[in-house]
Amino acid sequence: LARGTAEPDLAGRHVVVSAGGTREPLDPVRYLGNRSSGKQGYALAKAAAARGARVTLIEANTGIPDPAGVDVVHVGTALQLREAVVKAASDADAVVMAAAVADFRPAVYAPGKIKKKDDGGAPTVELVRNPDILAEISADRVLDGQVIVGFAAETDDVLANGRDKLRRKGCDLLVVNEVGERKTFGQEENEAVILATDGGETPVPYGPKEALAETVWDLVAPRLRPLPA
Ligand code: CTP
Ligand code: CA
Repeated sequence: LARGTAEPDLAGRHVVVSAGGTREPLDPVRYLGNRSSGKQGYALAKAAAARGARVTLIEANTGIPDPAGVDVVHVGTALQLREAVVKAASDADAVVMAAAVADFRPAVYAPGKIKKKDDGGAPTVELVRNPDILAEISADRVLDGQVIVGFAAETDDVLANGRDKLRRKGCDLLVVNEVGERKTFGQEENEAVILATDGGETPVPYGPKEALAETVWDLVAPRLRPLPA
């Protein structure tokens, strides 16, 4: 379907999309972060709104203006993202985790700036694991028939890694990107394979993130529970 002529096949639905990348503070001036631009998540949110859904977009560190007609929640860290996603998921028909969530955060936050010492040494930063939000919401689905979608950027045996990850996470669909030089991070275009728990594999050719967004909703829509009468 061309943009602007979308069927309102998500009318009456509440969908939640996470976008961007979390930042894990180390001290007041430093953080651990990642290169996610948030463009794919914003494309997903806008596409869902155009297809009639009520959309909650949970945004981490993108700097992108709020899209019209979308409820935006701004967060910074993985723990804040988790709280916002779990809350918004409580009445959501579908949740799409497009955000890059930091796997680790500094074990301690230094309330004052970490300074160099005169001995020429460097500090060691201890990290702890962040919760796996996608696995958590997939394991405790609040609603029967809630559709949950994850994203994965992989190298090497991309499809085998993707199948493994789909099983481990317990979500319904996994959008698998191959990480390469001009692919994925910060780019306007994307190429992917969308894996489904029923064995389905939908290749999405190299193209705009808007096209990938439409294909994700094309796969989500028929999996949604029937609307209450
Ligand atoms: N994800 C999440 N919470 C985390 C880490 C990841 O919800 N703490 C979600 C991401 O939003 C994405 C999916 O899980 O939708 C896959 O992320 P990825 O980093 O590929 O998976 P990991 O399980 O962290 O595996 P890896 O060790 O390959 O990074
Ligand atoms: Ca990860």
